[in-house]
Amino acid sequence: MTDFQGKRKGFSTRAIHHAYDPYAGCGSLNPPVYLSSTYTFPTVEDGAARFAGEQEGFVYSRVGNPTTLLLEQRIADLEGGEAALVTASGMGATTSLLWTLLQPGDEVIADKTLYGCTFGFFNHGLAKFGIKITHIDLTEPANLEVAISSRTKVVFFESPANPNMRLIDIAAISAISHRYGAKVVVDNTYCSPYLQRPIEFGADYVIHSATKYLGGHGDLIAGAIVGPKESLDQVRFYGIKDMTGAVMSSQDAFLVLRGLKTLALRMHRHSENAQGIAEFLTRHDKVEICHYPGLSSFPQTELAKRQMRLPGGMVAFELKGGIEAGRRFMNALKLITRAVSLGDAESLAQHPASMTHSFYTPEEREAHLIHEGLVRISAGLEDLEDLLEDLEQALVAA
Ligand SMILES: Cc1ncc(COP(=O)(O)O)c(C=O)c1O
Repeated sequence: MTDFQGKRKGFSTRAIHHAYDPYAGCGSLNPPVYLSSTYTFPTVEDGAARFAGEQEGFVYSRVGNPTTLLLEQRIADLEGGEAALVTASGMGATTSLLWTLLQPGDEVIADKTLYGCTFGFFNHGLAKFGIKITHIDLTEPANLEVAISSRTKVVFFESPANPNMRLIDIAAISAISHRYGAKVVVDNTYCSPYLQRPIEFGADYVIHSATKYLGGHGDLIAGAIVGPKESLDQVRFYGIKDMTGAVMSSQDAFLVLRGLKTLALRMHRHSENAQGIAEFLTRHDKVEICHYPGLSSFPQTELAKRQMRLPGGMVAFELKGGIEAGRRFMNALKLITRAVSLGDAESLAQHPASMTHSFYTPEEREAHLIHEGLVRISAGLEDLEDLLEDLEQALVAA
């Protein structure tokens, strides 16, 4: 979206206006929600031309709907990608993309730490179909030089990684991967495009659980893929249409469009609250260690500043009393809600080893750097003083 001088509009302006003209149609300020599974063809010849891709227009909502199309245009613009494809969930985005990119005999290199269900899909799903999965520590790009080969088709990671907050240098990993012809897929759920745009650093595809910051209100499950248009057409007409069917509904697309309008504002508040929480936890004598990119003690602050606008809304920490202290702490929380997911207005606390990352065996968790006592907090939008008061009383109880 550009203005009359051809200058690109700012992030929030595009998040609110991009690709929708309120003066078109009946003039509604908000875009219409198209509740239609199918679309009419003026003649049988028009129908045939649309199926053949020779005529613009919608055919059936499993492959496209005007409301989801608007959301795709907006997300692509915000991420700085050529095109986007929205999906029924974040997992729908990951599975639809990878089922399309890979075939038996191919190899995927992934970081050691991944969201639990992504780990499950790779190791229990893709691995069953003759695809080799190798997990390495991608925080050190030299490890990739050793592991990569011409069989590597995809290099996949999250940054920050869920749940331990390790950062990965997107530009360095992309440069190495491209020398071997591998595509780089970054799960950008923890950041949203307001904090980090991996395609600008050389990544080929971005994945989102739009359930999180993009939606922002904990009222839907949704996902998105951003990448080259030609390739996303294949994901749409093969990965989604024929393989996963993971289609986002137009009502959910409307809610994500609504969430995007306040994304920048929310990300500032999430980051401020997370910074306050992280500083409080670091100073507390019951806390062993706190992982947050905005802390001066964080080992990768230089990389955080290079690729992230703000340190973000996610904090991870370990208590001195280990897993038992972690349980007492979690059960004592009164305001911060015990729940998985993240990016909501409500602050949420969860214990990855027994919740989001319980799909790893204990041995796998150890190998993948997910400590049993780690507690994860998604800082919400409440008043920081109230959050700190709740943390203090729960730490006393721990
Ligand atoms: C980093 C990350 N990626 C992907 C997902 C999966 O998203 P969804 O729950 O929308 O399928 C999650 C869910 O928690 C996540 O945290």
